[in-house]
Amino acid sequence: MKKVLFVGAEAVPFAATGGLGDVMASLPAALCAVGEDARVILPLYRAVGAEWRAQMQEVAVFEVTLAWRRQYCGIRSLQKDGVTYYFVDNEYYFGREGLYGHFDDAERYAFFCMAVLTALPRIGFIPDVLHAHDWQAALAVVYLRTLFAKNVALSGIRSVFTIHNIAYQGRFSGDILGDVLGLDGSERSRMDFGGVINLMKAAIVTADRVTTVSPRYAEEICTPAFGEGLDAILRENAYKLEGIVNGIDYVRYDPAKDPALSRNFTARSKGRKAENKTALQRELGLPVDHEVPLLCVISRLAAHKGLDLVAEAAKALLEENVQLVVLGCGEPRFESFFRHLEAEHPQRVRSCICYDRALASRMYAACDLFLMPSASEPCGLSQMIASRYGAIPVVHAVGGLFDTIKPYAEGTDGITGGGFLFEEYSAAALLDAVRAALALWRDPEKRETLRSKIMRTDFSWGRSAAIYHRLYALV
Ligand code: GLC
Repeated sequence: MKKVLFVGAEAVPFAATGGLGDVMASLPAALCAVGEDARVILPLYRAVGAEWRAQMQEVAVFEVTLAWRRQYCGIRSLQKDGVTYYFVDNEYYFGREGLYGHFDDAERYAFFCMAVLTALPRIGFIPDVLHAHDWQAALAVVYLRTLFAKNVALSGIRSVFTIHNIAYQGRFSGDILGDVLGLDGSERSRMDFGGVINLMKAAIVTADRVTTVSPRYAEEICTPAFGEGLDAILRENAYKLEGIVNGIDYVRYDPAKDPALSRNFTARSKGRKAENKTALQRELGLPVDHEVPLLCVISRLAAHKGLDLVAEAAKALLEENVQLVVLGCGEPRFESFFRHLEAEHPQRVRSCICYDRALASRMYAACDLFLMPSASEPCGLSQMIASRYGAIPVVHAVGGLFDTIKPYAEGTDGITGGGFLFEEYSAAALLDAVRAALALWRDPEKRETLRSKIMRTDFSWGRSAAIYHRLYALV
């Protein structure tokens, strides 16, 4: 059994904006379930609700030194799903709207990482492994080996750094090295990349092990096409890089129990998925019709999620006699595109330009084909949730989508695979895959067989938790 501390900027249900928040909660819970002592530490944002604050206990109060600054820091803690969560409290840095995107994010997360390491002896938890996630936690790995290198209490800690998305590296102007990060000029080469400070790069070169969230993405980011400029650094560090696919939270994403659904269902209760489809068509004011396939997109509306392909393919898609429901917000050009598409095709299209978890659940439950054409995808969770809710995924064959969705095929002894993939990143290739999926869907018997198969596919954390367990033992 290892003591592991997850360091990261978000965790559901306290404060989250994306998949990182899911993993920061569901992976530690899975690790605790197999006997590790995995705990989590994150900032106490204003967004953390009163119901959680009421459960917290104050475990330490101290000052954090960051360059010339001395700042108050409180550590509060609570237990959830067998996991101990610690929250770093500082009103000035975290008592603000939103999680990221503030002018002083470098200073905020430098403070957070200093606070984490300063806290360890004071909260009575010295982990064997410090497991930092994404650029916001990168400095925890760096400070462990620099400012805290001579700290005897922390000297046995090993470090793992996980890249959830290489597109977000934490790049800042070079002049913050001493004044904000509190690091000596001799650390310049560790921190700099291409003339700016790059926190992700610094963690990659410093951590004992580096992981990312699928094996395919681990290969991809070592190439210029996917490396976002860090491919050479990753190739140099390939000896300590590994891809471990994410799982999903089987308690939270369970169509048999999901409280957001009007009718809960399992792989066995066939008609119930259709009831969810009817309910969603009613809720959204679309024509109620079982025979019209319902296509869904649930995504941040960003180009790299493949929304440009969906936009380009939309007209041809709608000629296929389908309904299309889009949920998400993001780039204004996509928000307005999908609003217009709905205005032009009120009988076929609904564009819900918002972030709504309960509606997302109802869409997964109602959906026939789930579209996820991401240009790149480190792991992706939605395609696994969709599968569990009986929605057939149509995905671009990259990253975690490639690793989790195997191509549908009919053989002599039954079917293999669980979805439809396309190789070339183009609207035409997406359309071909959708048409193939529609052909399958229009055959009720094959549709039911595939549906029941994908609902039973194991996307839980079990296997990957065991891989992390081995990693922690060896690091
Ligand atoms: C990021 C990635 C996504 C991944 C998630 C959790 O949001 O973009 O692909 O599933 O992190 O690791």
